[in-house]
Amino acid sequence: MSKVAVVFWSGTGNTEAMAELVAAGARDAGAEAEVIACADFSSSDLDGYDAFAFGCPAMGAEELESEEFEPMWDDVEPELPGRKVALFGSYDWADGEWMDLWRERAEAAGITIADTVIAKDYPDEDASVACRALGAALA
Ligand SMILES: Cc1cc2nc3c(=O)[nH]c(=O)nc-3n(C[C@H](O)[C@H](O)[C@H](O)COP(=O)(O)O)c2cc1C
Repeated sequence: MSKVAVVFWSGTGNTEAMAELVAAGARDAGAEAEVIACADFSSSDLDGYDAFAFGCPAMGAEELESEEFEPMWDDVEPELPGRKVALFGSYDWADGEWMDLWRERAEAAGITIADTVIAKDYPDEDASVACRALGAALA
């Protein structure tokens, strides 16, 4: 059975809700899935999983959350090329530019991004379906 790590940061719960949906989609597709706060994850954990969904909302000015998520990402990024990786997160007032920048950064580091899902605020029905599909794609 494949094992999926869903690693996230969330300030007000929107990205956390997405993380639970991604994990549910992976489980429905037959995988084992763990939802893990980014502060509890590091590059030394990578070999324990077959696929990864990383979730972070738009923070700063179209940036990743800088205190906990970005240090974790800086740590895992060099080890992610060749692994199955997807990205997700919530935003509010802009148009999702942070996710474009994050994806560009990841791809410049040699990571193949299987898929991305963004949700405006709390995931609505469409975003929920997309989160579950992302999880299923990683399973
Ligand atoms: C400090 C801060 C910075 C933010 N920066 C952006 C931003 O650059 N672009 C945007 O669209 N939303 C921005 N937001 C809105 C959040 O991305 C949005 O509220 C999101 O749903 C929060 O997700 P969470 O509940 O997982 O924390 C910001 C929110 C905060 C608190």
